[in-house]
Amino acid sequence: MPNGRPKLVVVGSTNVDMVVQTQRIPRPGETVLGGRFTTVAGGKGANQAVAAARLGAEVTFVARVGTGPLGRQALEGFHSEGIVTDYVVQDPELEHGVALILVDQNGENAIAVAPGANGRLSAEDVQRAEPAFAEADAVLLQLEIPLAAVERAIDLAKKHGKQVMLNPAPYTPLPDVLLAQVDLLTPNETEAEMLLGGGEAGHSGIAGTAEELLRRGVGCVIVTLGKEGVYVVTPERQYHVCGRHVKTVDTTAAGDAFSAAVTVRLAEGAPLDEAVKFAVAVSALTVTKVGAQASLPTRAEVEAFLPAHSS
Ligand code: RIB
Repeated sequence: MPNGRPKLVVVGSTNVDMVVQTQRIPRPGETVLGGRFTTVAGGKGANQAVAAARLGAEVTFVARVGTGPLGRQALEGFHSEGIVTDYVVQDPELEHGVALILVDQNGENAIAVAPGANGRLSAEDVQRAEPAFAEADAVLLQLEIPLAAVERAIDLAKKHGKQVMLNPAPYTPLPDVLLAQVDLLTPNETEAEMLLGGGEAGHSGIAGTAEELLRRGVGCVIVTLGKEGVYVVTPERQYHVCGRHVKTVDTTAAGDAFSAAVTVRLAEGAPLDEAVKFAVAVSALTVTKVGAQASLPTRAEVEAFLPAHSS
């Protein structure tokens, strides 16, 4: 980190989010009349890359954008955030990823993703980015891309002695051999239980679930709990950090923002407690605005929010 800015490699998805705000999420077979329709940049990987860049990291993004204007727009968006796109491939055939998102009056959402080009991000695409892995302070991953790409990213990170941060969303079954290489895992409660229960959510409680993930070899587990904050479990201790009180408008990308923020602060050398408090503030700010990348705060916005709201 010679210039004081941590270097991150983010490997993941990029989508266009088509968002409709509704009073409530419809039941199967039901139609509800919604409010505003917006189109915003999203995708779990891209959200994490943009969040980290706005918080001050030098980010190299490894991804596949779609053919056509949506892919080009996404690429321009990454450039305008100062993200290195040397390893973003424009797929010659497949459309850009699209997420259909409903956001209800409480800010909760329901999301369906058509992966498009994300589904063709390959181990070879990731392998080409090895020089960036060699330079990085940490590697940040999620699961909206093929598992082979995630596995190659973990192999490269470990080959070069880098920390691996994995946000296991959307839920995908993971072998223990992969979990054992993850330094920091940031599931929500359901994802944590499903990872252990072969896709079924169990009832072992947050602490029990996180402890079992540690037994399987994960270095540290931070379970995100929405407005309740997060529960942190390390081999030495476990503790709860409360969420910030804010007016929730849209929770989309709150988890992405949290994972990126905790990774940035840890890569800057901050202690875990401080990194977690910072990341809780970042995700709180994210839920106060509509949209995924549209809602991600800058470092200056977080610094301004932190002192007034730290407990
Ligand atoms: O985590 C939020 C993201 O999930 C959205 O931006 C959407 O694209 C889906 O990938």
